[in-house]
Order: sequence, then C-alpha cells, then structure tokens
Amino acid sequence: SREKDFAGLKVLISAGPTREVIDPVRFFTNHSTGKMGFALAEAAAERGASVTLVAGPVSLTANHPNITRVDVTTAEEMYEAIHSHFKQSDLVIKSAAVADYRPKIRSNEKMKKQPGNLTIEMERTRDILKSLGEAKQNQFLVGFAAETSNALAYGREKLQKKNLDAIVINNVAEPGAGFGHDTNIATFISKELGEKNLPLSSKKMMAHDILNLIKRELPGDTK
Ligand code: PMT
Repeated sequence: SREKDFAGLKVLISAGPTREVIDPVRFFTNHSTGKMGFALAEAAAERGASVTLVAGPVSLTANHPNITRVDVTTAEEMYEAIHSHFKQSDLVIKSAAVADYRPKIRSNEKMKKQPGNLTIEMERTRDILKSLGEAKQNQFLVGFAAETSNALAYGREKLQKKNLDAIVINNVAEPGAGFGHDTNIATFISKELGEKNLPLSSKKMMAHDILNLIKRELPGDTK
C-alpha cells in the first residue's frame, strides 16, 4: 500500500460540471463527468488526507471514508460551498468545469415555444478560482485549465493572473485527454518546478502524479 504522505492535510477538491438553469426543464452545462476530480479526491484520501469534495451534478460515487462530499448544482452554489471550506484547507484543487456564463433571467415557468428564433441573454458567473487567489493565506492553490489551442500559453497566463501555486493544463483536443475519458494527458506548471509533462495515463494514475508534484512544494517536505 502507498505511503500515507498526505496524513494530517485537509484537501478541498472541486469536480464535475455546473448546471445553469434556463427554466424548470432546461439548463446549460458542459461535458465534464467529474472523473478527474473524483480520481484526485480518492488518491488524496488513500494517502491519508481528509478530503472535502465539492461536486457538480455527476453520476459518480466517492468510495473512501476520508471523503466528505458536498453536492452542488450551479456555479454560484459551488462558489459558496468552496468558500465555506477554503479557510480551513491546506491544499485546494479546482478540477471542476465551472460555467462562465448563466442565463440572466431564470424563468419560473417553462418557456413556451414561439415563432422564429430565440435569444437568451447570458451574464458572467463569479470566477471561483480568481476569488480564491485573492483570498489565499497559507493554502496551496491548484487550478486546472481546459483549452483547445495555445493551451500552455493560456495556462501560464492563468497561473500568474489568478495567483495560483500550480496549474494542470489539459489540451482537450488531444485524443484520450480531457472531458469524459478514463485517461488524460496534461502539463503541470508551477513556479518552483517549471513545466512537467504528464503523459497519457488513467485519471487515477495522473491524480497520484499530480499529488507527487504538489507534495514536493508543500511546506515541510524534505524533497
Ligand atoms: O470531469 P472529467 O470528465 O473527468 O473531465 C476533466 C476536466 C477536463 C473537466 C478537467 O480535467 C479540467 O480541465 N477541469 C477544468 C475545466 C475548466 O473549466 O477549465 P477553464 O479553463 O474553463 O477554467 C480554469 C479554472 O478556473 C478551472 O480550475 C476552473 O475550475 C476555474 N473556474 C472557471 C470558471 C469559474 N467561474 N470559476 C472557476 O473557478
């Protein structure tokens, strides 16, 4: 069995998509299944961490007694849940695919079909990761980025702009990487370690590789 090298650490992880409601029967969402975030939660729990997993609507089950799961639906609910656990966390990993926009008007009645086209006005959701970068005290903060082009350049920019300690970048256009797959391909970037390629592997193996890299940067590690 693996070393309990995360024992005593409180780890906060977000996973899955969010759902932004249009009316009682319709919503906007994305292709995230939560697999990457659940793999991270399970890997950290197996290594002894006490894990809070904030999950959007997914069909997965978190199988470890060290995992406390908090289910949310919208980006706003995820914002509230993450912030209510942030202060007491040592490590925060944001692998959720949070909606950047939501319908400006949430209809309480099912919208009726009308002749012609329909336009739905969208407004920005709050950027959870950015707000964590601003609120950060001693937490080690890790973001994810899903890009289809210029993945590394966008990732480096997010690392700086959002005051992150590390970022995991997936180019979701590569086969076997990103949304829905059981495997992933990514690049881990941190100021201290630079760029580390994470080649094609199961999301669970990648989760352990990501934790290995993070471990090298946590205070108290002998390296
Ligand atoms: O769930 P799976 O099917 O296993 O797929 C895994 C994944 C592809 C979803 C995952 O590996 C991943 O890349 N997650 C981040 C996806 C994403 O939304 O990337 P982004 O570049 O749009 O966002 C960048 C970062 O900002 C992310 O850490 C995101 O959680 C965060 N964010 C974004 C918008 C917002 N309003 N608040 C946020 O905190």
